[in-house]
Amino acid sequence: PQDDRISRIASSIRIIPNFPKPGIMFQDITTMLLDPKAFKDTIDLFVERYKGKDISVVAGVEARGFIFGPPIALAIGAKFVPMRKPGKLPGAVISEEYSLEYGTDKMEMHVGAVEAGERAIIIDDLIATGGTLSAALKLLERVGVQVVESACLIELPELKGRERLGDNPLFVLIKSA
Ligand code: PRP
Repeated sequence: PQDDRISRIASSIRIIPNFPKPGIMFQDITTMLLDPKAFKDTIDLFVERYKGKDISVVAGVEARGFIFGPPIALAIGAKFVPMRKPGKLPGAVISEEYSLEYGTDKMEMHVGAVEAGERAIIIDDLIATGGTLSAALKLLERVGVQVVESACLIELPELKGRERLGDNPLFVLIKSA
């Protein structure tokens, strides 16, 4: 049986049609953040899943992974590592390019933020094509980090983003059309 908390979370997420471009149904999690119970339940569901699993790194993907990652990291006693768009991190970085619908983008992580052998989870609000999460996964694996799982609030299964993560597990709270 599905956890009761998930239906409240799902109904607190607003869908905005044709944003940022015509044809895109934007999943807006900011309305969920306005409902403290739904927001807390979201964090709790991830914390219950990852607490006591010897995870020392929570990697959050810009921008909305920065909202969900830190409270999860604090609750499980892990560090929080921001994975950022290019040119935002001030120190030495490693970067990973990934393809978008048109063109490419890049994701960066600070050198020295993580050590080989650490166990990590990656957090973002949503997986669509999987390009973003797969870049985060590659960055962490390149420096010898074991990614236990990627986690999102929402998956758009029709876009098959999960396939881009290969054998690496993906956990989501909500699957959306
Ligand atoms: C959205 C979302 C994920 C990404 C998923 O971010 O928050 O990070 O797209 O798409 P993908 O699975 O096809 O890679 P967005 O592009 O809106 O950037 P932002 O978080 O900086 O606003």
